[in-house]
Amino acid sequence: MNEQTAVTEATAVPATKKPALPDAQTVTQVKHWTDRLFSFRVTRPASLRFRSGEFVMIGLMGDVNEKTGKQKPLLRAYSIASPSWDEEMEFYSIKVQDGPLTSKLQHIKVGDEIIMRPKPVGTLVHDALVPGKRIWFFATGTGFAPFASLLREPETYEKFDEVIITHTCREAGELTYGAELIESLKHDELLNEVIGEGFWKKIKYYPTTTREESPKMGRITDLMRSGEAFKDLGVEPLNPDTDRAMICGNMAFNLELKDLFENTYNLEEGANSKPAHYVVEKAFLD
Ligand code: A2P
Repeated sequence: MNEQTAVTEATAVPATKKPALPDAQTVTQVKHWTDRLFSFRVTRPASLRFRSGEFVMIGLMGDVNEKTGKQKPLLRAYSIASPSWDEEMEFYSIKVQDGPLTSKLQHIKVGDEIIMRPKPVGTLVHDALVPGKRIWFFATGTGFAPFASLLREPETYEKFDEVIITHTCREAGELTYGAELIESLKHDELLNEVIGEGFWKKIKYYPTTTREESPKMGRITDLMRSGEAFKDLGVEPLNPDTDRAMICGNMAFNLELKDLFENTYNLEEGANSKPAHYVVEKAFLD
């Protein structure tokens, strides 16, 4: 799920006449957060149903192949950052200057079309977790995206008394998308009405940076090992009786947390077919 992932093979189309995009959706909003990060919203097909936390393949038409004169779609897996009830779809993306897709995608404007395959899938879903008291969302970088969906999902608050979201980024500016989204929940009249007034008080937000000064420095994994994160948050270390977790970050982060969960906190990995204590997804970084 990153810019290195192989392009999905798809039927090539002749480029002589500009083809209508297959599975086209129209861009309704674009926000640039830093020179490396942006988010955008697109129209949602009326028939598309998904579970908060899932991802879809999105993209643009690739360049014309000089030999064949044909174009084919250039698609990548993107977590849906908007919740399942939203009438539009939101995505949060890195910009890779020489990335096949994001070098182009970063230039989209309101009114442009993108391709979105209407087949949502993923493991970061409530169905893959058994009930518990507290849910932890662990993200690095753009791995925040599925949690932007789940933090706006009523089921998150119906199922858990406490919601802890940790976000580790290199620089402070990379935290802004998540920080603003969490702040916006306080003033979201619809969610406060649907989920219950003050639902957002269940959230504990723990942002950290590793390469730029900010109020909390360090990798979340190190802060957990030292016990500092638990002290700061005023909670006990994760425990299979009470805690559930979802992980979405770079590969090294996912593996390190998995190891901590399995070997230190005795949590068991869950899946759609066999719900348990935690689930993990590879984010689309780099
Ligand atoms: P660090 O700056 O110490 O590498 P990236 O942009 O490379 O995907 O990293 C995003 C954030 O995730 C960075 O703050 C990075 O910290 C952190 N990170 C990378 N690997 C790990 C890991 N194994 N455990 C915890 N955090 C990690």
